[in-house]
Amino acid sequence: MAQHRLPKAVFDYLDGGAEAEITLNENCRAFREVTFRPRGAVAIGDCDLKTRVLGHELSFPAMLAPVGYSRLMHPGGEVAAARAAGEAGTGYILSTISGYRLEDVKAASQGPVWYQLYLLGGRGAAEGALDRAQRAGFSALVITVDTAVSGMRERDPRNGMKELLGGSLFAKIPYVPNILAHPGWLISFLLDGGVPKLQNIVVPGKGPMDLLDVGTALSQSTVTWADLKWIREMWSGPIVVKGLLTGEDAKRAVDEGAVAVVVSNHGGRQLDSVSPTLRALPEVVAAVNGQIEVLMDGGIRRGSDIVKAICLGARAILLGRAYAYGLGAAGQAGVSRAIEILRSDVERTARLLGCPSIAALNRSYIEEVDGTIDKRQEVV
Ligand SMILES: Cc1cc2nc3c(=O)[nH]c(=O)nc-3n(C[C@H](O)[C@H](O)[C@H](O)COP(=O)(O)O)c2cc1C
Repeated sequence: MAQHRLPKAVFDYLDGGAEAEITLNENCRAFREVTFRPRGAVAIGDCDLKTRVLGHELSFPAMLAPVGYSRLMHPGGEVAAARAAGEAGTGYILSTISGYRLEDVKAASQGPVWYQLYLLGGRGAAEGALDRAQRAGFSALVITVDTAVSGMRERDPRNGMKELLGGSLFAKIPYVPNILAHPGWLISFLLDGGVPKLQNIVVPGKGPMDLLDVGTALSQSTVTWADLKWIREMWSGPIVVKGLLTGEDAKRAVDEGAVAVVVSNHGGRQLDSVSPTLRALPEVVAAVNGQIEVLMDGGIRRGSDIVKAICLGARAILLGRAYAYGLGAAGQAGVSRAIEILRSDVERTARLLGCPSIAALNRSYIEEVDGTIDKRQEVV
């Protein structure tokens, strides 16, 4: 439905990955290599799906990942996604690249809301956002460490994304017919005021950043481990490091004071040819050895994928495209529907496995086709 409603440039921005899209595809394929070992003839009433993440009780073991430019997908954007998450009893992570003010996103949700930080616009802009996020009641800070520069998502230049967002009228001409072929999206986009400013990247002396400036600004604002020191002084709440794939980086995150890590390759949108996250997960779980919580994302399209990740040691997972498709299709109602589909999948899968609760899932419920995951764990 999202593909039908959205212009190609917007849908491909959401759907696509970096370069040859090897990692994008592998993220999904990795789940196919893990098979279940169910327990038969086990009577289970209601399966307990509840999970605790950083002290928050979630209604099922999935939260919504930060997705930049959500307001281009639907005028409801980040506010709609946060509200849907809260209504479903789960959490939402707001990207720095947001079309809505962070205060409005926090106010929309009755569930936990975390803030994902990029250092776009420099330290001054980041300090302003951290101060606002803290006052607005964001309960954790997520620092994404896999975006030293923006990945080369080849579908974007082919679809004229840059020209459409800010080029001259003349430069837009080749791409206009496809936009006009999606009048439902176009009308809602124009009524929403067109390309939104980035309300949470307020550059001192300049005001909110333009969306078109993000690419250049990203490459000038790499987060390093050294930055964690001043960030920790600014931010008194828990810090989560998102975007690592190795035991070594996970141990470093523990040493730097993170309370959780997200095993993530940015949904295959950054460095292509890195390993799928499901395969990296056990190495990270073994490396942190229970000292902090391990979350993961990437390639989750069904509830059974969520169950497999939990069996391999994730505390919970983050949904990216799986809810963003819903947002692009139908705004808040679409996100709610996506969550509902995944949640009922998880419940059915657990019952078919003969497992009474998410907390009881472990390695005994799965096996792996080729043994690669176990080999990775031995590396640590
Ligand atoms: C359209 C889109 C935009 C994204 N924007 C951000 C972002 O601003 N910050 C971030 O940390 N991750 C971002 N991500 C990565 C997601 O948080 C998450 O890691 C990824 O989508 C998980 O993979 P999946 O889409 O296969 O579930 C984005 C992903 C997508 C699809």
